[in-house]
Amino acid sequence: MHNKTQDNIASVSLKNIVKKFGDVEVINGIDLEINDGEFVVFVGPSGCGKSTLLRMISGLDDVTSGSILIGDKDVTRVQAAKRGVSMVFQSYALYPHMTVYQNMEFGLKIAKTPKAEIRKLIADAAEKLQITELLGRRPGQLSGGQRQRVAIGRSIVKQPLIFLFDEPLSNLDAELRVGMRIEIADLHRELKNTMIYVTHDQIEAMTLADRIVILRDGNVEQVGTPKEVYENPINQFVAGFMGSPSMNFISATYNGTGGFDVYGKNLTSSLKLSNVAKDEIITIGIRPEHLSLDGSLEFSLIVKVEATEYLGGTLFIYGVTEGGEKITIENRHDKTPKIGNKITVGAEMSYLRFFDKNKRRIHRK
Ligand SMILES: Nc1ncnc2c1ncn2[C@@H]1O[C@H](COP(=O)(O)OP(=O)(O)OP(=O)(O)O)[C@@H](O)[C@H]1O
Ligand SMILES: [Mg+2]
Repeated sequence: MHNKTQDNIASVSLKNIVKKFGDVEVINGIDLEINDGEFVVFVGPSGCGKSTLLRMISGLDDVTSGSILIGDKDVTRVQAAKRGVSMVFQSYALYPHMTVYQNMEFGLKIAKTPKAEIRKLIADAAEKLQITELLGRRPGQLSGGQRQRVAIGRSIVKQPLIFLFDEPLSNLDAELRVGMRIEIADLHRELKNTMIYVTHDQIEAMTLADRIVILRDGNVEQVGTPKEVYENPINQFVAGFMGSPSMNFISATYNGTGGFDVYGKNLTSSLKLSNVAKDEIITIGIRPEHLSLDGSLEFSLIVKVEATEYLGGTLFIYGVTEGGEKITIENRHDKTPKIGNKITVGAEMSYLRFFDKNKRRIHRK
């Protein structure tokens, strides 16, 4: 393992990174500081620039402008192989004609690592990933999960300062994903390297990340711990993006001192919001798991049930409000209501989030 001395601390600084493909700007000037040893997860809709950003950090793609620092060193123009960074892809990209051992050995041989050291590095990584007995096989003789382990092993033996993962588990079936997710968390605890991880999977993002970076259209929308971005999204986009099923959005009118009206009915008399004018239209955000079938709460709505899904531990109720807005309720203990029936659902006031017409978060007074 690299000795983490002062001059190879594995922090990553992105300074005003811009990326253009031809005339199209896909990364619009991103600034980001990632700490040494931190596990950072990039999320965002398809095409928002997650892979492009990762490829620029790795050196596989050039930046159009801006700079990238690893530790104190400006690596913007340093070639990929010399950055101390290793990337694991969704498509494992293993050499099909080579054995697992040869796949893991390949990069080390090119780097002219001594044979005995290669043997030791591969034996250690294989043991960590429980693939020792597979070292003589070819990729075609492995399951998806085993192949993904080999791809991770190939990164580990290079002893990078920084691991980059681009949706490494998305080709695996649900059960394997859970297993590998836990192994990646273990790996990070053990190696303590900086890791940057791209995923579409909400659970991977929430469970693996020290901090989550939410990207949209080549911009950073918010950076924060899983708890911060889930509980205190800075805008309606982040609120809707984080969480599955998504947060519900209900339109309302702020009525100054007396709280707000929803579909013409006053729903609270106690709430005061900052920087909102009387009669301004706002959006209330409420997560499915915060809605209950308790109609006696201060915030309540009548919902016509359109569909239900009983999942054993969880019950999803899909309905439509009196204002015609779709709403999802996630429940644990309630009875399944009949489709077509009207039910009253409610939430504690403290769970409500508010957004202005520009979709920015509004805070309480
Ligand atoms: N080589 C390229 N030439 C032109 N445009 C590109 C190239 N690579 C990526 N793009 C564009 O850059 C944007 C960002 O792509 P990127 O692959 O980074 O998205 P992503 O966030 O990783 O998406 P996904 O979740 O689908 O993997 C997209 O609009 C994409 O079409
Ligand atoms: Mg991608």
